[in-house]
Amino acid sequence: MTEEKLRALLDSMSLEEKVGQMVQVTGAFLEEDAVITGPAADAGLELSDCRLAGSILGIAGADRLKRIQERYMEEHPHHIPLLMMADVIHGYRTVFPIPLALGASFQPELVEKAMGMAAEEAASAGLHVTFSPMTDLVRDPRWGRVLESFGESPWLDSRMAEAYVRGYQGADGDLSRPGRMSACDKHFVGYGAPVAGREYNHAELSEHTVREFHLPPKIAAIKAGTACVMPAFQSLNGEPCTASEKIVRKLLRDELGFEGVTISDWSAVGELVAQGAAADTREAAKLAIEAGIDIDMMSVCYARELKGLVESGEVEERLVDEAVWRILTLKNRLGLFEDPFHGSGTEAEKKTVLCQEHRDFARKMVAESVILLKNEDSVLPLSREKKTAFIGPYVDSTDTCGSWAIFQNREDTVTLRRGVAEGGYGENALFCHGCDVLENTRVLGFGVEEVFGQREDRDELVKQALKAAEEADAVVMALGEHTLQSGEAASRGDITLPAQQMELLRQVSRVNSNVITVVYSGRPLDLREVSACSKAVLAVFLPGTMGGAGIADVLFGAASPGGRVSMSFPWSAAQIPVYHNDYSTGRPYDPAGAEQKFVSRYLDMPNSPLYPFGYGLTYGSFRYSSVTLSAETMKAGEVLTAAVTVTNEGTAAAKETVQLYLHDEKATTVRPRRELKGVKCLYLQPGESGEAVFRITEEMLKIWDRDMNFLAEPGTFTVYIGSDSRTENGAGFRYEG
Ligand code: BGC
Repeated sequence: MTEEKLRALLDSMSLEEKVGQMVQVTGAFLEEDAVITGPAADAGLELSDCRLAGSILGIAGADRLKRIQERYMEEHPHHIPLLMMADVIHGYRTVFPIPLALGASFQPELVEKAMGMAAEEAASAGLHVTFSPMTDLVRDPRWGRVLESFGESPWLDSRMAEAYVRGYQGADGDLSRPGRMSACDKHFVGYGAPVAGREYNHAELSEHTVREFHLPPKIAAIKAGTACVMPAFQSLNGEPCTASEKIVRKLLRDELGFEGVTISDWSAVGELVAQGAAADTREAAKLAIEAGIDIDMMSVCYARELKGLVESGEVEERLVDEAVWRILTLKNRLGLFEDPFHGSGTEAEKKTVLCQEHRDFARKMVAESVILLKNEDSVLPLSREKKTAFIGPYVDSTDTCGSWAIFQNREDTVTLRRGVAEGGYGENALFCHGCDVLENTRVLGFGVEEVFGQREDRDELVKQALKAAEEADAVVMALGEHTLQSGEAASRGDITLPAQQMELLRQVSRVNSNVITVVYSGRPLDLREVSACSKAVLAVFLPGTMGGAGIADVLFGAASPGGRVSMSFPWSAAQIPVYHNDYSTGRPYDPAGAEQKFVSRYLDMPNSPLYPFGYGLTYGSFRYSSVTLSAETMKAGEVLTAAVTVTNEGTAAAKETVQLYLHDEKATTVRPRRELKGVKCLYLQPGESGEAVFRITEEMLKIWDRDMNFLAEPGTFTVYIGSDSRTENGAGFRYEG
């Protein structure tokens, strides 16, 4: 539709219709036989509030959404199509590893391809917008939603944010093409830093910290063209983001130039009352629209209050018109006025959903994202000639996609046992359950509850496991936290493995010295004891539909483990937050130096995490040359190159993730000890060498100075290039401005 026609459409809409566009309800409320129950009913939402809603969320399926669209459009006074939205976070039916694992791949180009596949599947099933990527930088693994983040580096998170947006929206951003979806960057801003890691808690971050660490990935998503942004639930420095003109209207829109649609988080407008920011739903609606929230997701506030607020003159109709214009523009960009189904249909679904190409790529992404944390005596890769016992609750588990994979079908998931058997690795493999994932507890999800008791055959299972372990040459322990122990509303204070799994591991490690522990989790766990009991540790996070296949490929050496730590694994939860890009102190601690008292350290534990950022082993063995720089000085506008030669001195072909870190030696504000600024992946055969060449631009040197100017300050910088954030392989240059 031309812009002129779209304007004319807006001008012809009644106030009630316009407010409707700003209301989003769950898809089931627009189905023929809808009834409103649960929290929405408790909050007073009625079917009449949903009649003109401009968008729905949470359901998918080409036929189902087509029926809703047809009925809705027929009844709508202007026959305006609905927007169909949902959380497609790391895949639709072909579920890729969780975003934290995709971050660990350190390979945005692969992630872009994966999200292109996710969009193709979801769009074929009738969806138009996904509430993704979540670009909240994270430092606290107690928070359950770290699984949805890419990690602790602003640079890496930014590259992943761009990859996600381009994957969903296409590199050219043409949303009208079938198979494309609109991205929705979330949560703006600071949701990734809830105080004490407790879900929904407020965030306290200085402006400097927000700008240096939390905003860059958001800016990257905006620059990559995300069509929507979701302001965060929580308050930042005392102000609820949903009601903050400073955060939404001034920062997001005026300063960062975001022109797309803003969508509140689930019922966040209504929650302004509980937060103590609004007296009632009427004031909440007023605050939210004034702050710049275009769509109210699942609270009664806009549906109930906005019309009255405009009619009484308390809210300017101009604000409604601006919001509706942006919503109609998004519908138009998606081509919904021409094809309200956006190319979806059962034929398209059959062709794309879980197709071989997607499953193969998901399998590859598993291998690219699992992190080999330890591999003593090269116990991995396993030999298929030797007897291997696979023990633990994750051997046969299909619950490996994580709590956000809302469209998954468990039957599609390849378990570890299946991966081993179907990969042709299983001729000498034994499999035992060992124990359940949890015991004597209950976990809650969205509308689900899982209750774990104590099994009657508990001792028998342990006995079988120990017998298998005794007979085997090596043991693979498949252990982990439950999938409902991470994700939204799943903060944990104790981030170790469940107790009975830990006990099983202790016992097995006493009867077999070649224990390889495969850890399934939605967060970096405290793995200190796991590591002590194991010769090898492989962190696989929640690997998705093809998890078992990809993990088996890595265990038996068909693929080299490709992941690197993108969020530090703490030595103990007591260190949290522990991350690589912390500031230099005036009293640095040198663990290799002489004992000193008045330095920045703990008396009872190390400063460093157990596994630091960037770290990860492969089946290769890489030697780095020293860093060579193209010049020792750099003037404004110039570019330097920094290079290393990397040689694979091992016996297996492998990918090496070459990382470039910068350190600004002196500046007007204290600088991080290391900042990741570049990654190059080299695939090297045994004996082969490759060169990694990086460009260093002035942009990469910029910091937020004391007066909150973003600029490169003249001075000395060190460039480090190595295989993780601890590398000392560096060279210095002077930036002269
Ligand atoms: C989450 C959002 C999500 C929304 C819709 C909320 O609880 O915080 O990230 O997009 O639900 O499902």
